[in-house]
Amino acid sequence: MKTVTCTAPVNIAVIKYWGKRDTGLILPTNDSLSVTLSQDILHSKTTISAAKEYSHDRLWLNGKEEDITKNKRMHNCFRETRALRQQLEQDAAQRGETLEPLSSYHVHVCSENNFPTAAGLASSASGLAALVFTLAKLFDLTNNMSELSRIARQGSGSACRSLFGGFVAWEMGSKDDGSDSLAVQVAPETHWPELEALICVVSDEKKGTSSTEGMQHTVNTSPLLQHRIKEVVPVRMAEMKKAIHERDFQTFAALTMKDSNQFHAVCLDTYPPIFYLNDTSRAIMKIVHEYNATSPDGKLKAAYTYDAGPNAVIYAPKENMREIIQLIAHYFPGSADNYFVDPYKLFTSTQDL
Ligand code: PMV
Repeated sequence: MKTVTCTAPVNIAVIKYWGKRDTGLILPTNDSLSVTLSQDILHSKTTISAAKEYSHDRLWLNGKEEDITKNKRMHNCFRETRALRQQLEQDAAQRGETLEPLSSYHVHVCSENNFPTAAGLASSASGLAALVFTLAKLFDLTNNMSELSRIARQGSGSACRSLFGGFVAWEMGSKDDGSDSLAVQVAPETHWPELEALICVVSDEKKGTSSTEGMQHTVNTSPLLQHRIKEVVPVRMAEMKKAIHERDFQTFAALTMKDSNQFHAVCLDTYPPIFYLNDTSRAIMKIVHEYNATSPDGKLKAAYTYDAGPNAVIYAPKENMREIIQLIAHYFPGSADNYFVDPYKLFTSTQDL
């Protein structure tokens, strides 16, 4: 029996992934780019043990056992990591060595998030990244993070970006088998220490339309999505990478807000429409624009972005954060649930329990 525990961080996209060209392999219709947040506040922590005695694969999520018999995505991750482990075992056998046949054992997975699950706070990203990273450690896999990201992608698309810290692109790739659809680090977590993120938890309720369901409705019905995929995202990806490399907050902020707005416009363009934002989300957008308008030199001081839920993430230089928190606290008194988070690196810890 072997047991390993790891944690993985949340990532919040600034160029959004929305739409799959292959739903089985989870291949996206466009590139995307995200910032990985500090694990100190938001993370998924996963413990996995493999044992000869286990009769089937089991999962406990936030202390409650889940039925995973029909969970294809988890099984994708099990299958792919076991195949890599099996290869290691076969290679070792050829050298006359014996590795414990972990690839043939069933696993027990115990995972918990220290933040609301499925409320648009990217719990699937950190959860599936933690699953794949912990399996890789359990099986002593030597594959690099981009290779592991290909597996995490098959658990949940955005999970592939949570295997890296800092600024991370998910390249959509062009191959039908998905072998070139993976995450790469654009810049490390140390690259832009002045940039910080404030997470405003507007609602911690489970979202009404899952991203899987929502995306496919959009792909099937939104003409705006086609424009976004072909004309908008390729240009924005190039501009965003340049802005990150140059630590150019003006371009970063404008692109981040425009891309979030277009993602939600695409949701509205879906028929019937999908709504993820609520009145509080829209009020926060207004506050950020009004705050930016107070800038004497016309420079942007903060940028909002929203995933598939009403919660706001505000990116801003550290020097503006205190003011932003005061503003939010002024308009939403008692909002004790605001998390103040540094974009930070992937921290991993492995331990035998
Ligand atoms: O990976 P999923 O299926 O949870 O989809 C995530 C989609 C967004 O969060 C809205 C955008 C993104 O790029 O993370």
